[in-house]
Amino acid sequence: MREASHVASRTDPKESGGRIMGDSNKPLVEMRGISKRYGGIQALQRVDLDVFLGEVHAVVGDNAAGKSTLVKTLAGAVLKDEGTISFDGQPVEIREPRDAKALGIETVYQDLALADNLDVPANVFLGREATRRGPLAWFLDNRRMEQESRKLLSKLKINIPNIRQQVRFMSGGQRQSIALARCVCFNARIVILDEPTAALGVAETGKVYALIRDMREHGLAVLLISHNLNHVFDNCDRITVLKTGRLVASRRVEATSQDEVLRMIVTGVAENGGQPLRDPTRMAAE
Ligand SMILES: Nc1ncnc2c1ncn2[C@@H]1O[C@H](COP(=O)(O)OP(=O)(O)O)[C@@H](O)[C@H]1O
Ligand SMILES: [Mg+2]
Repeated sequence: MREASHVASRTDPKESGGRIMGDSNKPLVEMRGISKRYGGIQALQRVDLDVFLGEVHAVVGDNAAGKSTLVKTLAGAVLKDEGTISFDGQPVEIREPRDAKALGIETVYQDLALADNLDVPANVFLGREATRRGPLAWFLDNRRMEQESRKLLSKLKINIPNIRQQVRFMSGGQRQSIALARCVCFNARIVILDEPTAALGVAETGKVYALIRDMREHGLAVLLISHNLNHVFDNCDRITVLKTGRLVASRRVEATSQDEVLRMIVTGVAENGGQPLRDPTRMAAE
Protein backbone atom coordinates (compact mmCIF):
# COMPACT_ATOMS: atom_id res chain seq x y z
CA MET A 1 0.00 0.00 0.00
CA ARG A 2 1.74 3.08 -1.19
CA GLU A 3 -0.23 6.23 -0.72
CA ALA A 4 0.54 9.44 -2.45
CA SER A 5 1.36 12.09 0.05
CA HIS A 6 -0.77 15.19 0.16
CA VAL A 7 2.28 17.06 1.35
CA ALA A 8 4.63 18.17 -1.36
CA SER A 9 8.11 16.83 -0.79
CA ARG A 10 10.59 19.42 0.34
CA THR A 11 13.42 17.26 -0.87
CA ASP A 12 15.79 18.86 -3.28
CA PRO A 13 17.20 15.98 -5.34
CA LYS A 14 20.39 17.86 -6.04
CA GLU A 15 21.01 18.20 -2.35
CA SER A 16 20.50 14.61 -1.33
CA GLY A 17 21.71 12.95 -4.50
CA GLY A 18 24.91 14.84 -4.94
CA ARG A 19 26.23 15.16 -1.48
CA ILE A 20 25.56 11.94 0.27
CA MET A 21 26.71 9.04 -1.80
CA GLY A 22 25.93 5.53 -0.65
CA ASP A 23 26.43 2.21 -2.35
CA SER A 24 23.61 3.21 -4.61
CA ASN A 25 23.11 6.80 -5.67
CA LYS A 26 19.61 7.42 -4.46
CA PRO A 27 18.57 6.94 -0.88
CA LEU A 28 15.99 4.27 -0.19
CA VAL A 29 14.59 6.43 2.59
CA GLU A 30 14.59 10.22 2.65
CA MET A 31 13.20 11.76 5.80
CA ARG A 32 12.96 15.54 5.77
CA GLY A 33 12.04 18.00 8.46
CA ILE A 34 10.69 15.40 10.86
CA SER A 35 9.28 16.99 14.02
CA LYS A 36 7.53 15.40 16.96
CA ARG A 37 6.34 16.94 20.20
CA TYR A 38 5.16 15.12 23.30
CA GLY A 39 3.32 17.64 25.42
CA GLY A 40 5.99 20.13 26.42
CA ILE A 41 8.88 18.10 25.04
CA GLN A 42 10.13 18.68 21.52
CA ALA A 43 11.41 15.14 20.91
CA LEU A 44 12.39 15.88 17.29
CA GLN A 45 12.92 19.19 15.57
CA ARG A 46 13.16 19.18 11.78
CA VAL A 47 15.41 16.17 11.54
CA ASP A 48 16.62 14.88 8.16
CA LEU A 49 17.81 11.35 7.54
CA ASP A 50 18.84 9.48 4.40
CA VAL A 51 19.26 5.71 4.36
CA PHE A 52 20.71 3.85 1.39
CA LEU A 53 20.27 0.25 0.35
CA GLY A 54 23.29 -1.85 1.21
CA GLU A 55 24.33 0.30 4.14
CA VAL A 56 24.28 -0.09 7.88
CA HIS A 57 23.34 3.31 9.23
CA ALA A 58 23.80 4.07 12.91
CA VAL A 59 21.82 6.70 14.81
CA VAL A 60 23.71 7.81 17.89
CA GLY A 61 23.21 10.39 20.62
CA ASP A 62 22.73 10.80 24.31
CA ASN A 63 19.64 9.70 26.17
CA ALA A 64 16.60 11.68 25.04
CA ALA A 65 18.31 12.72 21.81
CA GLY A 66 15.24 11.52 19.90
CA LYS A 67 16.78 8.39 18.36
CA SER A 68 13.94 6.05 19.18
CA THR A 69 11.30 8.59 18.24
CA LEU A 70 12.96 9.16 14.86
CA VAL A 71 13.10 5.49 13.89
CA LYS A 72 9.58 4.97 15.24
CA THR A 73 8.20 7.58 12.84
CA LEU A 74 9.67 5.47 10.03
CA ALA A 75 8.32 2.26 11.53
CA GLY A 76 4.84 3.71 11.93
CA ALA A 77 4.95 3.33 15.71
CA VAL A 78 4.92 7.11 16.24
CA LEU A 79 2.97 9.62 14.17
CA LYS A 80 5.16 12.58 13.25
CA ASP A 81 3.78 16.10 13.60
CA GLU A 82 5.66 17.50 10.62
CA GLY A 83 7.96 16.45 7.84
CA THR A 84 7.97 14.17 4.83
CA ILE A 85 9.19 10.68 4.12
CA SER A 86 10.08 9.39 0.68
CA PHE A 87 10.64 5.72 0.02
CA ASP A 88 12.26 4.61 -3.20
CA GLY A 89 11.82 8.15 -4.47
CA GLN A 90 8.07 8.20 -3.78
CA PRO A 91 6.44 10.31 -1.08
CA VAL A 92 4.74 7.98 1.39
CA GLU A 93 2.50 8.36 4.42
CA ILE A 94 3.37 6.02 7.27
CA ARG A 95 0.61 6.21 9.85
CA GLU A 96 0.84 2.80 11.45
CA PRO A 97 3.18 -0.21 11.52
CA ARG A 98 1.15 -1.87 8.77
CA ASP A 99 1.99 0.97 6.36
CA ALA A 100 5.68 0.53 7.10
CA LYS A 101 5.58 -3.25 6.68
CA ALA A 102 3.79 -2.90 3.37
CA LEU A 103 6.75 -0.88 2.12
CA GLY A 104 9.27 -3.42 3.38
CA ILE A 105 10.22 -1.50 6.52
CA GLU A 106 10.67 -4.04 9.31
CA THR A 107 11.44 -3.33 12.93
CA VAL A 108 13.06 -5.55 15.52
CA TYR A 109 12.07 -4.21 18.90
CA GLN A 110 14.21 -4.40 21.99
CA ASP A 111 11.90 -6.87 23.69
CA LEU A 112 12.32 -9.04 20.58
CA ALA A 113 8.59 -9.69 20.25
CA LEU A 114 8.92 -13.43 19.88
CA ALA A 115 6.24 -15.81 21.06
CA ASP A 116 8.00 -17.80 23.79
CA ASN A 117 5.75 -20.80 23.62
CA LEU A 118 6.18 -21.32 19.87
CA ASP A 119 9.02 -22.94 17.98
CA VAL A 120 11.30 -21.28 15.44
CA PRO A 121 9.22 -21.81 12.29
CA ALA A 122 6.09 -20.58 14.00
CA ASN A 123 7.94 -17.46 15.13
CA VAL A 124 9.43 -16.81 11.73
CA PHE A 125 5.96 -16.94 10.19
CA LEU A 126 4.18 -15.31 13.10
CA GLY A 127 1.53 -12.81 12.13
CA ARG A 128 2.17 -13.20 8.43
CA GLU A 129 -0.98 -15.12 7.71
CA ALA A 130 -3.06 -12.03 7.27
CA THR A 131 -0.55 -9.78 5.58
CA ARG A 132 -0.16 -11.80 2.38
CA ARG A 133 3.20 -10.31 1.72
CA GLY A 134 5.93 -12.30 0.08
CA PRO A 135 5.66 -15.65 -1.62
CA LEU A 136 6.11 -17.60 1.61
CA ALA A 137 2.97 -16.30 3.22
CA TRP A 138 0.93 -18.62 1.04
CA PHE A 139 2.47 -21.79 2.43
CA LEU A 140 1.48 -22.14 5.99
CA ASP A 141 1.61 -25.87 6.58
CA ASN A 142 4.08 -26.93 9.21
CA ARG A 143 6.41 -28.93 7.01
CA ARG A 144 6.75 -26.11 4.60
CA MET A 145 7.35 -23.57 7.36
CA GLU A 146 9.98 -25.84 8.86
CA GLN A 147 11.74 -26.32 5.51
CA GLU A 148 11.70 -22.63 4.76
CA SER A 149 12.94 -21.78 8.24
CA ARG A 150 15.86 -24.20 7.91
CA LYS A 151 16.81 -22.77 4.54
CA LEU A 152 16.63 -19.27 5.91
CA LEU A 153 18.71 -20.02 9.01
CA SER A 154 21.37 -21.76 6.96
CA LYS A 155 21.45 -18.91 4.45
CA LEU A 156 22.07 -16.53 7.33
CA LYS A 157 24.51 -18.95 9.02
CA ILE A 158 22.39 -19.03 12.15
CA ASN A 159 23.07 -22.14 14.17
CA ILE A 160 20.03 -23.42 16.03
CA PRO A 161 20.22 -27.20 16.47
CA ASN A 162 16.59 -27.91 17.29
CA ILE A 163 14.30 -25.46 15.59
CA ARG A 164 11.18 -27.29 16.81
CA GLN A 165 12.01 -26.31 20.36
CA GLN A 166 10.06 -23.47 21.97
CA VAL A 167 12.09 -20.28 21.68
CA ARG A 168 11.82 -19.66 25.45
CA PHE A 169 14.65 -22.17 25.83
CA MET A 170 16.94 -20.30 23.49
CA SER A 171 19.65 -17.78 24.26
CA GLY A 172 19.24 -14.05 23.81
CA GLY A 173 21.48 -14.14 20.77
CA GLN A 174 19.55 -16.96 19.15
CA ARG A 175 16.30 -15.13 19.80
CA GLN A 176 17.65 -11.92 18.33
CA SER A 177 18.80 -13.89 15.28
CA ILE A 178 15.35 -15.36 14.82
CA ALA A 179 13.83 -11.91 15.01
CA LEU A 180 16.27 -10.69 12.33
CA ALA A 181 15.67 -13.76 10.18
CA ARG A 182 11.96 -12.96 10.11
CA CYS A 183 12.74 -9.65 8.46
CA VAL A 184 14.95 -11.15 5.77
CA CYS A 185 12.40 -13.84 5.09
CA PHE A 186 9.67 -11.39 4.28
CA ASN A 187 11.51 -9.31 1.77
CA ALA A 188 12.31 -6.42 4.00
CA ARG A 189 14.20 -3.64 2.30
CA ILE A 190 15.16 -1.88 5.49
CA VAL A 191 15.43 -3.30 8.96
CA ILE A 192 15.26 -1.04 12.00
CA LEU A 193 17.02 -2.12 15.18
CA ASP A 194 16.84 -0.14 18.42
CA GLU A 195 19.75 -1.23 20.65
CA PRO A 196 19.70 -4.81 19.36
CA THR A 197 22.54 -6.06 21.53
CA ALA A 198 21.80 -4.17 24.75
CA ALA A 199 20.84 -7.37 26.56
CA LEU A 200 23.47 -9.64 25.03
CA GLY A 201 26.91 -10.86 26.01
CA VAL A 202 30.05 -10.31 23.97
CA ALA A 203 29.92 -13.49 21.87
CA GLU A 204 26.23 -13.12 21.11
CA THR A 205 26.67 -9.47 20.25
CA GLY A 206 29.34 -10.47 17.73
CA LYS A 207 26.95 -12.93 16.12
CA VAL A 208 24.18 -10.37 15.84
CA TYR A 209 26.54 -7.92 14.14
CA ALA A 210 27.72 -10.68 11.79
CA LEU A 211 24.09 -11.16 10.88
CA ILE A 212 23.62 -7.43 10.38
CA ARG A 213 26.61 -7.34 8.03
CA ASP A 214 25.14 -10.32 6.23
CA MET A 215 21.88 -8.45 5.76
CA ARG A 216 23.86 -5.63 4.17
CA GLU A 217 25.48 -8.19 1.83
CA HIS A 218 21.99 -9.27 0.85
CA GLY A 219 21.36 -5.68 -0.21
CA LEU A 220 19.17 -4.57 2.67
CA ALA A 221 19.45 -1.28 4.45
CA VAL A 222 19.89 -1.46 8.20
CA LEU A 223 19.02 1.43 10.50
CA LEU A 224 20.50 0.82 13.90
CA ILE A 225 20.48 2.65 17.21
CA SER A 226 23.46 1.93 19.41
CA HIS A 227 25.18 3.41 22.43
CA ASN A 228 28.38 1.56 21.69
CA LEU A 229 30.65 3.54 19.39
CA ASN A 230 33.07 0.62 19.06
CA HIS A 231 30.27 -1.50 17.62
CA VAL A 232 29.18 1.39 15.43
CA PHE A 233 32.63 2.01 14.00
CA ASP A 234 33.28 -1.71 13.47
CA ASN A 235 30.01 -2.46 11.73
CA CYS A 236 28.38 0.61 10.26
CA ASP A 237 28.83 2.62 7.07
CA ARG A 238 27.23 5.88 8.10
CA ILE A 239 26.53 7.63 11.37
CA THR A 240 23.88 10.19 12.18
CA VAL A 241 24.27 12.14 15.40
CA LEU A 242 21.26 13.60 17.20
CA LYS A 243 21.25 15.90 20.19
CA THR A 244 18.09 16.89 22.09
CA GLY A 245 15.89 16.32 19.08
CA ARG A 246 18.09 18.01 16.50
CA LEU A 247 20.27 16.64 13.75
CA VAL A 248 23.92 17.38 14.43
CA ALA A 249 25.49 15.69 11.39
CA SER A 250 25.53 12.60 9.18
CA ARG A 251 28.93 11.21 8.28
CA ARG A 252 30.35 8.21 6.54
CA VAL A 253 32.49 6.34 9.08
CA GLU A 254 35.68 6.79 7.06
CA ALA A 255 35.10 10.56 7.07
CA THR A 256 35.00 10.82 10.85
CA SER A 257 36.43 9.34 14.03
CA GLN A 258 35.15 8.07 17.34
CA ASP A 259 36.55 11.16 19.04
CA GLU A 260 34.75 13.47 16.69
CA VAL A 261 31.46 11.61 16.98
CA LEU A 262 31.75 11.61 20.75
CA ARG A 263 32.34 15.36 20.75
CA MET A 264 29.34 15.91 18.48
CA ILE A 265 27.17 13.77 20.78
CA VAL A 266 28.20 15.88 23.75
CA THR A 267 28.35 19.37 22.24
CA GLY A 268 25.69 19.01 19.55
CA VAL A 269 27.92 20.96 17.18
CA ALA A 270 28.96 19.59 13.78
CA GLU A 271 32.64 20.04 13.14
CA ASN A 272 34.44 20.93 9.93
CA GLY A 273 34.83 18.43 7.14
CA GLY A 274 31.45 16.78 7.00
CA GLN A 275 28.27 18.55 6.22
CA PRO A 276 24.94 18.27 7.95
CA LEU A 277 22.21 17.00 5.70
CA ARG A 278 20.39 20.26 6.00
CA ASP A 279 21.99 23.51 5.09
CA PRO A 280 22.08 25.51 8.34
CA THR A 281 21.36 28.77 6.52
CA ARG A 282 18.23 27.24 5.09
CA MET A 283 17.28 25.88 8.48
CA ALA A 284 17.55 29.34 9.98
CA ALA A 285 15.35 30.75 7.22
CA GLU A 286 12.54 28.26 7.81
N1 LIG B 1 5.69 8.39 24.52
C1 LIG B 1 6.32 9.46 25.02
N2 LIG B 1 5.65 10.34 25.77
C2 LIG B 1 6.25 11.45 26.26
N3 LIG B 1 7.53 11.76 26.03
C3 LIG B 1 8.26 10.91 25.29
C4 LIG B 1 7.69 9.72 24.74
N4 LIG B 1 8.65 9.09 24.04
C5 LIG B 1 9.75 9.83 24.14
N5 LIG B 1 9.52 10.93 24.88
C6 LIG B 1 10.50 11.99 25.18
O1 LIG B 1 11.03 12.43 23.95
C7 LIG B 1 12.42 12.66 24.06
C8 LIG B 1 13.16 11.77 23.07
O2 LIG B 1 13.02 10.44 23.48
P1 LIG B 1 13.61 9.22 22.67
O3 LIG B 1 13.23 9.33 21.25
O4 LIG B 1 13.21 7.97 23.39
O5 LIG B 1 15.17 9.47 22.84
P2 LIG B 1 16.39 8.44 22.75
O6 LIG B 1 15.91 7.20 22.09
O7 LIG B 1 17.43 9.16 21.97
O8 LIG B 1 16.83 8.21 24.16
C9 LIG B 1 12.78 12.36 25.50
O9 LIG B 1 12.78 13.58 26.21
C10 LIG B 1 11.66 11.48 25.97
O10 LIG B 1 11.46 11.59 27.36
MG1 LIG C 1 15.85 5.21 22.74
